[in-house]
Amino acid sequence: MDKVIIGDNLGKALSQELNLPFISVVDRVFADGELQPRLEKEGKFAQAILIIQKKQKEDINAYLIKYLLLLRKIKDLSEQTIAIMPYFPYARQDDVFQEGEPLSSLYIAELIEKNADIFITCNMHEHRKKIGDLFKIPVYNVFVFKDLAERFKDYSSVDSVVIGPDEEAKLFVDDFCEDFLATKIVIRKNRDFKTGKVSFIYPENMAERLKGKDVIIVDDIISTGNTILETALAIKEFEPRTISFAIVHSIFGDVVMDQLAVVNPKRIVFTNTLENSHYTVDIVKPIARNLLEKKII
Ligand code: R5P
Repeated sequence: MDKVIIGDNLGKALSQELNLPFISVVDRVFADGELQPRLEKEGKFAQAILIIQKKQKEDINAYLIKYLLLLRKIKDLSEQTIAIMPYFPYARQDDVFQEGEPLSSLYIAELIEKNADIFITCNMHEHRKKIGDLFKIPVYNVFVFKDLAERFKDYSSVDSVVIGPDEEAKLFVDDFCEDFLATKIVIRKNRDFKTGKVSFIYPENMAERLKGKDVIIVDDIISTGNTILETALAIKEFEPRTISFAIVHSIFGDVVMDQLAVVNPKRIVFTNTLENSHYTVDIVKPIARNLLEKKII
């Protein structure tokens, strides 16, 4: 076989999108937790693309081990291996914050690139390290905020305000607004490390800019939900007409939906980089687009 896609449900969808053959991965977990993933069938390939999504009930470390075992297996079968992890685990551990800690994001990248020729992920958290600082092999960070913005096509540009909850989110706001005309606002968040209390620093005229408007809060990751919930509660004070959320990676999946309900959101838009039953943006299309545009396949 020349080219093949190996993976799970996302792999199958990608193979259909690109019209390429597909080999599925069969999961097996032993009683002690050890993993033995298996390719449904073997072969010799010129190019193999491995894409697997972390499942909702799956431990992130089990996902990682499974992925690494498969990559190593595929290295024996394929001349070139393209590793696609829609969500790159450990990306937020991109610095040594306290003496003695591992620089986890770099070490995970080193494990991946041992057996992959190209690495692709979506909106990798790039706060302190860029994706190119972690990997020595060619890497592609697929930005999907424009795809999230598509879901707000029915919003009026005059009434929409896109808000980033912290300075790092400026990039996300800009990306989101590339084809979506709206007022852009980035706020600054301060947390008192002793009391845990959060306060916000706003640009001028917030009340004037937000009253009666349709606010969309954008961020790359929702984990505990605290960041965007605290932002939304603070924004609510300025009496916007509606509040919506647009987030790429929903780490705790469905659990966060109940938390966000407190602010009665008009719309919540997530992708399926990690499995969750509420996603509205399928990551397969932007990944396929990227593979073709960058002439990777
Ligand atoms: C922070 O730098 C990220 O961009 C997210 O704001 C953060 O990871 C969200 O985490 P949580 O939902 O736990 O507040």
